[in-house]
Amino acid sequence: MGEGVGYAKTILFGEHFVVQGSHAIGASLSKEFSVKITPSEKLSLNIETGQIVLDASRAILDSFSLPENYFIEAETGIPSGAGMGWSAAYSVALARAAAAEKGARLDWKEIAKHAYEGEKVFHGNPSGIDNTLASRKGAILFKRGEEPIPINLKVPLNLVIAYTGKTGYTKELVSGVARVKEEKPEAFADLMREVEAIVVEARTCLREGNLGRLGVLMDKNQECLRQVGVSSPELEELISMFKDEGALGAKLTGSGGGGCAIALVRSKNDTSAILQRIGNKYLIFEAQIG
Ligand code: PMV
Repeated sequence: MGEGVGYAKTILFGEHFVVQGSHAIGASLSKEFSVKITPSEKLSLNIETGQIVLDASRAILDSFSLPENYFIEAETGIPSGAGMGWSAAYSVALARAAAAEKGARLDWKEIAKHAYEGEKVFHGNPSGIDNTLASRKGAILFKRGEEPIPINLKVPLNLVIAYTGKTGYTKELVSGVARVKEEKPEAFADLMREVEAIVVEARTCLREGNLGRLGVLMDKNQECLRQVGVSSPELEELISMFKDEGALGAKLTGSGGGGCAIALVRSKNDTSAILQRIGNKYLIFEAQIG
């Protein structure tokens, strides 16, 4: 028997563009996925899922050279298809459970590598940011193929995360962005440069505690995401509500097309206005990072 956990995540800056090689910034959230595996006749889960979850599970177990079948008991409060990293948190939790089953003591980097095998099944061409964030606590600067760099936040970030209720399909959205890149290479290159500059400045703002500027950068990042077609009417409605209620900045997080939007607020008190206005319409999570 083996057990393991993985964390939910939020991408603060650079999603989608990170797949194409830009930097991105993300942080793990306190919500967890926990997984317990016990040998069984066939590979199965205690929760209703599609075949893709079984295929991803098989890929992760294979990466540990575990050919046996398992009954996988999965438990989480992370909504799926919401851009909070359900698949990555699951993959990391299963990788940790598989490592425990093998009696292997692996650090988070090795766990993230095994979890990446699951993410490839789920998403086709993942940048690796989700499985990295799901395997460790804290905020990081991430670039595909490079060692992630932890970011020390000067002040904690107070975020409101709201779920549109509509599933975003990462694989389709990521290929949609690749099509934009192919069809309009110059415009896309300009956007890549803009996002890179946003991420670099955001890292400085996080280290210096410049919340006002961080909010502005979130809005700018959202504009870039709109231009590659990954926002949606539901996300736009949420983002304008956030802004009307005084959020410093707001954007989609993760793959978009639905999923979640995040808003940065100055203090915990500022979240109450937002909760009053939209808390009965949307599923809302409050998150403090750092
Ligand atoms: O699958 P999601 O919604 O958590 O978002 C994944 C983040 C992307 O940048 C869109 C894809 C990737 O692999 O980095």
